[in-house]
Amino acid sequence: MLRLKNVDFNKDKVKTFVIPVCEDKDIHDNRLVSSIKKEISGIKEFKGRKGDEVTLYNISGKKIEKVIFIGIGKVETIDAESLRAFAGSVVKKCIQKGFGEVMISVPSAGKIKIELQLMLKSLMEGGYLGNHIFDKYKKDKKNKPLKRIDFFVKADIAKKFNRLSSHVKKICDSTIIAREWVNTPSNDKKPVDFTKSIAALGKKAGLNITVLDEKQLKMKKFGSLLAVAAGSINKPRMVIMEYSPKKPRKTVVLVGKGVTFDSGGINLKTSEGLNNMKMDMAGAAAVASTLIAVSNIKPDIKVVGVLPIVENMPSGSAIRPGDVIKSFEGKTIEIGNTDAEGRLILIDAMAYAIKKYKPNVLIDVATLTGACVVALGEKIAGVFSFDNKIADSIVKSGERTFERCWQMPMPKDYKEFLKSEIADIKNIGNSRYGGAITAAMFLSEFTGDTKWAHIDIAGPAFINKGTAYCGAGGSGFGVRLLCDYLENI
Ligand code: BES
Ligand code: ZN
Ligand code: ZN
Repeated sequence: MLRLKNVDFNKDKVKTFVIPVCEDKDIHDNRLVSSIKKEISGIKEFKGRKGDEVTLYNISGKKIEKVIFIGIGKVETIDAESLRAFAGSVVKKCIQKGFGEVMISVPSAGKIKIELQLMLKSLMEGGYLGNHIFDKYKKDKKNKPLKRIDFFVKADIAKKFNRLSSHVKKICDSTIIAREWVNTPSNDKKPVDFTKSIAALGKKAGLNITVLDEKQLKMKKFGSLLAVAAGSINKPRMVIMEYSPKKPRKTVVLVGKGVTFDSGGINLKTSEGLNNMKMDMAGAAAVASTLIAVSNIKPDIKVVGVLPIVENMPSGSAIRPGDVIKSFEGKTIEIGNTDAEGRLILIDAMAYAIKKYKPNVLIDVATLTGACVVALGEKIAGVFSFDNKIADSIVKSGERTFERCWQMPMPKDYKEFLKSEIADIKNIGNSRYGGAITAAMFLSEFTGDTKWAHIDIAGPAFINKGTAYCGAGGSGFGVRLLCDYLENI
């Protein structure tokens, strides 16, 4: 449970109360908090520096079991992300100690440079996301998530921002769903399993769900998607999720890459390359989770999620390098490399979505290229679009949510690299360099004049080392980003 709450420390029982303290400024103007804070004024070791910590028990006259003071450094260093990280690390600490619940004191409005709403939002996001534990596959579930995460604020603020906490909860619950899907091993999320899970949660959320099975995919001529699926005994699916409000201002289609395992196919990956390839459906996870969030947030735009879901495996029935296939859109494609499979499933989903929904904006999200990770590192996604306005809005959403995005160039002459001698286009570039861009150029050949942006999340979709508010594994990257984008267009 996530709440903004006011309590009377003289009357109400509080088990664990956490007070963030700055080293160069008093950030609490609450009388009660100040009176508790006085208790540590004599402790010289505690200066409020980052990492400083003191716990006091049984504060005189107050019904608080223990108070933990935590240093957060200089006031000017505090921003939305440091607040997320602070709340996340507090929650993690409390989980480790088995506290069960926590109340965190919120700095008073005006004491730090961030506006109140963003401060509350960031603290709640960090705390709530930091409370997620993925232990489904562990016998010994030794760490238990906290049952209650409360943020201590004045009564009027608790009342005024009551809706904010439920809003944050909706978006973070969806982020957690995306994380869990990505963390699930590929033997438990074959395309059919993953589809069932999406359909079940989507229906529960009130979305209109359509699933196309292999027969329907063949009938509708999704040749490019089917070519990727051909090597696996696990049959492909396409899931369509629709959120349709009464009078939508516009229609946005989101397409997410759903490769439940990417072995590379006949162009088999190296041992190292195979690592974590269960995460190659993180784009689909982000889009499906965003739709679930959208069904709860209820914006006045129509949002459709289109998810091509396949497994990329080598076998006697797999496509080979040199094969020519025919896409849904009609262009023929020469397979230069079977490991460039993401773009092949995306273009069929995108061409279908354009034909069926004629969206005002189309965005695809995909763990598309290792080259994008080389370019931007593991924490920043690449944004590719001919439309700078859309790219800009996505980058701005990235700044607000700290799901960071960087706009990459789309040089039209790079299309030359995709020329094929025998087909209309080839699925890899003939240059060793600029692989993230040639992948985006390939996608752009199938978007017609629809306004479109591509987000390559190969880097940030999965983290090897946990952070303050995300465990190691799937990060849920894209959910908060897309929700913010949809809320601001
Ligand atoms: N799923 C990979 C991209 C990827 C790499 C995601 C690392 C996450 C981490 C994609 O399907 C792929 O294999 N891309 C190739 C493209 C190449 C064959 C043109 C790549 O990046 O090497
Ligand atoms: Zn691949
Ligand atoms: Zn892939």
